[in-house]
Amino acid sequence: MTDLSVLESDLLGAVAAASDLAALEEVRVSALGKHGSISALLKGMGAMSPDERKEKGPLINGLRDRVQTAIAERKAALEEAALSAKLAAERVDLTLPAPPRRKGSVHPTMQVMDELVEIFAQMGFEVAEGPDIEDDWHNFTALNFPPKHPAREMHDTFFFNPDEKGERKLLRTHTSPVQVRTMVSQKPPIRIVAPGRVFRCDSDQTHTPMFHQIEGLVIDRDINMGHLKWTLETFLGRYFETDTVATRFRPHHFPFTEPSAEMDVRCDRSGGEVKVGQGDSWLEILGCGMVHPNVLRQVGIDPNEFQGFAFGLGVDRLAMLKYGMPDLRDMFASDTRWLQHYGFSAYAVPNAATGLD
Ligand code: PHE
Repeated sequence: MTDLSVLESDLLGAVAAASDLAALEEVRVSALGKHGSISALLKGMGAMSPDERKEKGPLINGLRDRVQTAIAERKAALEEAALSAKLAAERVDLTLPAPPRRKGSVHPTMQVMDELVEIFAQMGFEVAEGPDIEDDWHNFTALNFPPKHPAREMHDTFFFNPDEKGERKLLRTHTSPVQVRTMVSQKPPIRIVAPGRVFRCDSDQTHTPMFHQIEGLVIDRDINMGHLKWTLETFLGRYFETDTVATRFRPHHFPFTEPSAEMDVRCDRSGGEVKVGQGDSWLEILGCGMVHPNVLRQVGIDPNEFQGFAFGLGVDRLAMLKYGMPDLRDMFASDTRWLQHYGFSAYAVPNAATGLD
């Protein structure tokens, strides 16, 4: 019997000493593997006399069970230690300060879009939207551009290739098609602004092939140019945050308004930058007019019953004026240093209570 207890203590010692799973596996094979010491004892039982087997069998089986259990326990312990070591090695200290990184920011154009919408919403306007890819009818025909009229060319339109039906889609050249879409789908009274991207094949210091406009449209009974002037002056005063906005209408031509005008705002250009609300210079900032009766007819509104005004202004331009960005092209160059300098915090949401910017 002594050899059984010697074997047991040797094996248990080896199990306890196994410092990793590979070493433990070696001990298991040496005891319980095909040629292992305990396997040999188990095999030897077949040659024993019944009496001897009765006496030694339980001892050998007991030895096997205890060694098996010890191996299983050691294995679990080693596995847990390995997992803990792995977790410790991969631990991330969330309390460490993050390395300084360039912060994301809101582009001035988007910030100004939000400011404009906030101001017009306060004045009772809803926001309307339309697609960037338009058809000829919404962008031109319904807006009273005669077929083949040079005004279509003036817009430097990006046309798509004609489809099977010969129809050429285009990138909208202004936000005015949203006027048409709104009047087709809604009954007057209508009071909307439509901010969005527009596209013209044009590029220099003051023009980029993509820029942003906001369109305004009011349709109701007894609307006249006085309403238009008041709306624009009130809006400009709030946008530039000054009580001293002075404006002037200059006669102009748009096919979809009659009469049409451009509006200039009084400004000071003396210090190398443009200051609105003072000085004796004028700066053109928007196009506007009374909605042309032909446009109303195109969308099924009776011009004898309803009138309206519309205006369209360049959002990027307004942003440059208010926040002092000198070159329009920089606005779309995606230079992170520029964005870092001119961008707004994502938390600086313009609102009527705490101010626009
Ligand atoms: N759509 C015109 C443009 O892009 C601006 C405009 C809008 C003029 C509404 C009058 C009325 O130039």
